[in-house]
Amino acid sequence: MKDAAPQTIYLKDYTPFGFAVESVSLTFRLHPTATRVISKIRFTPIPDASDTRFFLHGEQLKLISAKIDGVEINTKMVEGGLEADVPDVPFTWETEVEINPQANTALEGLYMSNGMYCTQCEAEGFRKITFYPDRPDVMSVFDVKIEADGDNTPIMLSNGNGVELSKARATWSDPWPKPAYLFALVAGELIAHRDTFTTLSDKQVQLAIWVRPGDEHKCAFGMAALKKSMKWDEDVYGREYDLDEFNIVAVDDFNMGAMENKGLNIFNSSCVLASPETATDGNFERIEAIIAHEYFHNWTGNRITCRDWFQLCLKEGLTVFRDAQFTADMRSEPVKRIDDVITLRARQFPEDQGPLSHPVRPESFQEINNFYTATVYEKGAEVIGMLKTLVGDEAYSKALDLYFMRHDGQACTIEDWIAVFEESTGRDLNQFKLWYSQSGTPEVAVREAYDGTTFTLHLSQSSAPTPGQSQKAAQVIPVTVGLLNDNGDEILPTQVLELTQEEQSFTFEGHASRPIPSILRGFSAPVTLRQDIDNTRRAFLLAHDTDAFNRWEAGRDLARDSLLGAVLEGTPHNTAYLQGLKAVLSDETLDPAYRALMLGQPSQSELASELHKMGHTPDPAAIHTASEALRRAKAEAFSDLLPGLYADNQVAGTFSPDAGPAGQRSLANAALSLLTRLDQGKTAAQQYASADNMTLQLAGLSALLDAEKGEDALETFYDQWQNDRLVIDKWFSMQVMHAKPAALTKTVRKLCDHPDFEWKNPNRFRAVMGMLAAHHAGFHHESGGAYELLADWLIRLDPVNPQTTARMCAAFQTWKRYDQTRQTMIQGQLERIASQNGLSRDTTEMVTRILEG
Ligand code: BES
Ligand code: ZN
Repeated sequence: MKDAAPQTIYLKDYTPFGFAVESVSLTFRLHPTATRVISKIRFTPIPDASDTRFFLHGEQLKLISAKIDGVEINTKMVEGGLEADVPDVPFTWETEVEINPQANTALEGLYMSNGMYCTQCEAEGFRKITFYPDRPDVMSVFDVKIEADGDNTPIMLSNGNGVELSKARATWSDPWPKPAYLFALVAGELIAHRDTFTTLSDKQVQLAIWVRPGDEHKCAFGMAALKKSMKWDEDVYGREYDLDEFNIVAVDDFNMGAMENKGLNIFNSSCVLASPETATDGNFERIEAIIAHEYFHNWTGNRITCRDWFQLCLKEGLTVFRDAQFTADMRSEPVKRIDDVITLRARQFPEDQGPLSHPVRPESFQEINNFYTATVYEKGAEVIGMLKTLVGDEAYSKALDLYFMRHDGQACTIEDWIAVFEESTGRDLNQFKLWYSQSGTPEVAVREAYDGTTFTLHLSQSSAPTPGQSQKAAQVIPVTVGLLNDNGDEILPTQVLELTQEEQSFTFEGHASRPIPSILRGFSAPVTLRQDIDNTRRAFLLAHDTDAFNRWEAGRDLARDSLLGAVLEGTPHNTAYLQGLKAVLSDETLDPAYRALMLGQPSQSELASELHKMGHTPDPAAIHTASEALRRAKAEAFSDLLPGLYADNQVAGTFSPDAGPAGQRSLANAALSLLTRLDQGKTAAQQYASADNMTLQLAGLSALLDAEKGEDALETFYDQWQNDRLVIDKWFSMQVMHAKPAALTKTVRKLCDHPDFEWKNPNRFRAVMGMLAAHHAGFHHESGGAYELLADWLIRLDPVNPQTTARMCAAFQTWKRYDQTRQTMIQGQLERIASQNGLSRDTTEMVTRILEG
């Protein structure tokens, strides 16, 4: 058990380690409950180091022996590791430790999943494997020897290139210096799906995706995605792969999505395994993006890493930005942008507007695992996007070339990153840096003026106080704007306005009639836009905006306005919205995937946030009713259109997960969902029965559940898929998602009693508890039963897996939006969690921040 006494780490306290690590040699003698790890590390004291203390991290290690230059020494065990007296000249440090992979349910360090050994070291897991300076600025080359404990681990993998591989022993050598968090080891009964890739300088790389027997048929898509990623990074960023082999392993028990260990990426099986029968189009797209993301880390993260964990966005923000560019290139740019903005608003905005708000580069933490957040990732990527918008594409490319050239092999900071842009563009980016240090979502308000020739946009910015930051300075906000005339022609193509002050006006001369602005095109900055315009204007933009994002946004604004009106005043749904939407849906020149997005509407949680900002107390039940009513209004208003939309977007022939057919399926399924409200599930039942791929089967099941006709389908679905974990996760999620708000806790309790509810598996836990928290009306049901149920399970999971528990505490982060009764109930649950004996540092930090924020 970790020491729960909260210790806060500050960015300002950074001091380099006083020793360089010249080389690391590790030997693993694998055993499920008693693995021996023998380390031989060459240290060199750094002259004039400010910190000369020889401290090595170590947690949950049984020390067998420690030697310096071959001589047994005495070590001093201290909090979180050990200290020793060491020579002031280079020396060889050797230890032997024993660890217990079988007992490691936290899935950090070396652990076992289905009889397979695997590791997860980011951020601070290597210290559970051996004593080491476990910090990203200590980089070294690693040699690894793995010895099997019998014949059940025929495959033994580590980073770099395989040197000697036999049944009993494997030797690996990684020539590229790396921090310990990129170390990886996998051993078990695995089968390879192989391929090769020839790099731009004509080197052949051996590629393999390693899976448990039985999953071989689910690798082809991931492999194709890997090859596309390798090619794309060469074409777009000039980045070539740098080892003879690249291995990916799929594991069933994994806290996160995937991990970029050098040459040996480890993936949650849900993020790499796919076949048409078992994976949805959404799964395929996500797999392609994650494979790309982890591969792209080879340059943005591995070759150039982070000096300390405060700089996490240096690798994550940039790599998310890169994988988004990749997806936009492989699929549809506007669709990807809209998807990302939906995610940003659903995950990052609530974080930034609540007690967990923190800057993209935080200044302190207790447990770094709690800072792999939407802010660091998604807002971090938005910040890169703004930088690119401000300097332009060419300057961005030039700056990246300089970044790779100058910092290859280094552990860097945001200052290094910004300096590269300042030097290559000559631009002063001091004010831009505020995006890294200031938390909160800025609000940009727009006022228009027109005098017969000159059109003026008055822009102003403000930012509400966030924890620890009461006063905010004005930021540089790139606001993209285009102008349209009354016919909807674009009369001024997209321009970038640089809002740098609290208030600023921008004029557009020579307009004989009043232009219509389209503002924040492509969502050029992660802000909320307050525009004082009416629904006529929005309907005009929905019909005519030449910017695909803003056209979608106009529909979204109309939907929001309509929903808020329904919640607050019981007004009927806006006909201008329904008519405008109908025109868009009927426009066959528009991409089906885009039209499917148009059919969406703001989530219930987003509406709750909006109401809260407007000064109202959101009523989850009323929001639920209004959302449902809007869907029904759409079904009725489009009743003549839906059968055609559905029929015309059926895809014939062999299944392809490509953007084109996937877009058609998403439009057909969106139509099906509405159609179900008119035909009581008749079409859905047909689709469910005849589906030959998971996208159609699951959409059929989902619609049937909506129509309360899903009982039989749930049974046949279970019978069909009971041996496929990833599909059974969907089966659990579906039932939670579609529960009636008042029946949610009952449904979840029943699912928790199901023999397949293997709650120690993070995917399974999230399939149920993540969906419980995401069910807005059910989670916030007035009974408070869901709050209690989630808290019960978090308390149960915490001693087993603190990381996953802590992340799920975020379900409570919006608690102050709601009425006093709900607040009191949530507070009670948070305090109950906080009062548990031996609560992990991870969960303690989250619960405390949520309560105090
Ligand atoms: N480096 C992370 C994985 C990670 C996160 C390890 C937190 C340890 C703690 C990896 O590159 C990553 O970011 N994975 C994401 C998916 C990605 C597509 C954003 C994940 O696992 O969710
Ligand atoms: Zn990442």
